[in-house]
Amino acid sequence: MTIQTVAVITGGSSGIGAATARLFAARGHAVAVLDVNRERGEKLAASLAAGGAARFYECDVADAKAVDAVAAQVGKDLGPAGILVTSAGLIPNTESIMDMDMQAHERMWQVNYNGTVHACRSFGRQMIARKRGAIVTLGSINSLLPLPLPAYNPGKAAIARLTQLLAVELGRHGIRVNSVGPTYVMTETLQARVDAGLRDLNKIMAVHALDTLPGPEDIAQAIAFLCSAEARTITGVLLPVDSGWLAGVSYKTYAGGVPWTD
Ligand SMILES: NC(=O)c1ccc[n+]([C@@H]2O[C@H](COP(=O)([O-])OP(=O)(O)OC[C@H]3O[C@@H](n4cnc5c(N)ncnc54)[C@H](O)[C@@H]3O)[C@@H](O)[C@H]2O)c1
Repeated sequence: MTIQTVAVITGGSSGIGAATARLFAARGHAVAVLDVNRERGEKLAASLAAGGAARFYECDVADAKAVDAVAAQVGKDLGPAGILVTSAGLIPNTESIMDMDMQAHERMWQVNYNGTVHACRSFGRQMIARKRGAIVTLGSINSLLPLPLPAYNPGKAAIARLTQLLAVELGRHGIRVNSVGPTYVMTETLQARVDAGLRDLNKIMAVHALDTLPGPEDIAQAIAFLCSAEARTITGVLLPVDSGWLAGVSYKTYAGGVPWTD
């Protein structure tokens, strides 16, 4: 298999990031997995490397200098990034602004928002040098409507705006920047929260148009599309991958009910 562009995935050790790393590796890309979870990341990279080139890099995306250093190392080991997916993130539980822990709030902004900025700067510079590239940031249904997650929710809205800013700033260098906005994705992290009673699966399903949630592989497919030549004129967009959550969340909670009984 010919080695395609280098694909860099932050938060690639698990969930959506891991599924994306697997998909890009299967399509012949050299893959750099950046994550704080060394054990899982090394295991994944080893399994991907069997079919091509894949490496794990331990990196806290909240640390701008660390991301810069890893970007330089990836450049040396695998070559400059052609694709960047920023999947590293912390996922919180319901809380109020009045009672939230401010240290946890700060950390979430540092990882989710600043971490996205850091990765886009460090790897974006490699793309600028080559005058091509595709970046996909991880948004959410939280990017579009309010949910009681006071650091996470506005952080995802900020990432959507950042994506637009970057799309314009980097468009003149031939780099496209888009975002995906998943609904609840059945990752191990979400499953654990459902099991712990922190997410109610019946409530979740009641407001979707479809009766099935996306898995990490579905999000990976949307990301791969946005990075592909088929999407060559798509930039600055937030693509919901949401089983109809955006359409259903107001419709299905209408006070007059829904026009069917079954
Ligand atoms: N699962 C969902 O329902 C869902 C829905 C919408 C959006 N998202 C977004 O998708 C992205 C991935 O989420 P996921 O569901 O795959 O979660 P996940 O917990 O399975 O994966 C997140 C990864 O990020 C890594 N990470 C955390 N902090 C980091 C840091 N400081 N530096 C580097 N890596 C770090 C974790 O170790 C983990 O491997 C997140 O941005 C999340 O907000 C998830």
